Amino acid sequence: MKNILLTGGAGFIGSHLVKWLLNKYPYKVVNLDMLTYAGNLGNLQEVEQHPNYVFEKGDIGNAQLLDRIMEEHAITHVIHLAAESHVDRSIVDPLAFVQTNVLGTVQLLNACRRHWPAGTSDRLFYHVSTDEVYGSLPSAGYFVESTPYDPRSPYSASKAASDHFVRAYFHTYGLPVVLSNCSNNYGPYQFPEKLIPLMINNIKHGNPLPVYGQGLNIRDWLWVEDHCAAIDVILHGGKVGETYNIGGMNEWKNIDLVHLLCHTMDHKLGRKEGESAKLITYVKDRAGHDLRYAIDPGKLREHLGWSPSIDFETGLARTVDWYLDNEAWLEAVTSGAYLDYYQHQYAHR
Ligand code: NAD
Ligand code: DAU
Repeated sequence: MKNILLTGGAGFIGSHLVKWLLNKYPYKVVNLDMLTYAGNLGNLQEVEQHPNYVFEKGDIGNAQLLDRIMEEHAITHVIHLAAESHVDRSIVDPLAFVQTNVLGTVQLLNACRRHWPAGTSDRLFYHVSTDEVYGSLPSAGYFVESTPYDPRSPYSASKAASDHFVRAYFHTYGLPVVLSNCSNNYGPYQFPEKLIPLMINNIKHGNPLPVYGQGLNIRDWLWVEDHCAAIDVILHGGKVGETYNIGGMNEWKNIDLVHLLCHTMDHKLGRKEGESAKLITYVKDRAGHDLRYAIDPGKLREHLGWSPSIDFETGLARTVDWYLDNEAWLEAVTSGAYLDYYQHQYAHR
């Protein structure tokens, strides 16, 4: 039996993971989320009444709150996803990323130390991290678990720092930890500041499609539930102290991906082929824009038998369908503060 404290469960990946765990296991899942602009309880409607689900609204940086939750729910496992997650926002406001991603992670580690018996082997701190900590790849080669860290954005620097703290607590205090570093996720419920939902939303409304630079940067895309499946196998079979890379073996140049989305949506919206692609607009590049990410997930495949379950065309079509079918969700998250963000982010590009 596990009592899991899952942080960031109202966000994109976290909400999929909450549902994944509750649907599959009898575990108690306590979702601690501060509900920043990226957190949305609407993502969790289908499990709201689940008897094993508890929602706690609050900041991972609040030590008293963490003490109360660890105690009250007899937490045995932490799966830590809460973070500021958008690279563009980290360029505007790095400190917010240090606050949550670095200090918040250390507060959580400290709470585990305070509440778990020293030398315990039936507890686990699972830290969910990103491939961006490894930096930028040239056109060849892959990130493996031993690739040296080389973060190049405030976001990836903050995630790298948090990874280092997690490993330091393993080596220094013997805290049982496991880490995974994953490539770009896509799927339903992703906040439309990120490439795929932003493009879907703009194509739908006939707005310009802002492609940074020349659109030649490459990302390795993974269906979000395949990330949940990987977290599941690592939670249950991963070796304490180890790191596992998770990736889709699915590299796409941004411009090719945007063309594929335009093609898919022309078809679904009954537009003439080529109509949506006319909206593509090349804009000023992201500062320090990493050229390429690509994960070699060989360790996870060989040690724990994980591999992605669906191909990209299928996943992308499902994603487009979901956003078209869930207009109310999209309208709700793209009104209000999102409009100010969008205006600020794209006005001068
Ligand atoms: P997200 O931005 O969609 O969600 C983050 C969640 O964390 C939100 O619900 C937000 O309210 C919550 N949160 C933020 N600050 C908090 C705080 N101080 N206290 C409590 N809750 C707080 O992020 P996501 O895309 O779902 O990413 C989740 C995790 O996975 C992050 O750690 C991210 O670095 C990592 N990751 C994401 C991707 C990706 O492609 N999205 C890939 C690899 C790793
Ligand atoms: O690699 C994993 C990471 O993937 C996660 O750790 C991050 O939390 C997640 O946000 C994501 O980071 P990226 O910067 O790769 O994702 P984003 O969707 O912001 O951008 C994907 C690519 O598309 C990137 O090369 C920048 C480009 N882009 C993005 C936006 C928002 C555009 O060309 N135009 C845009 O408007």
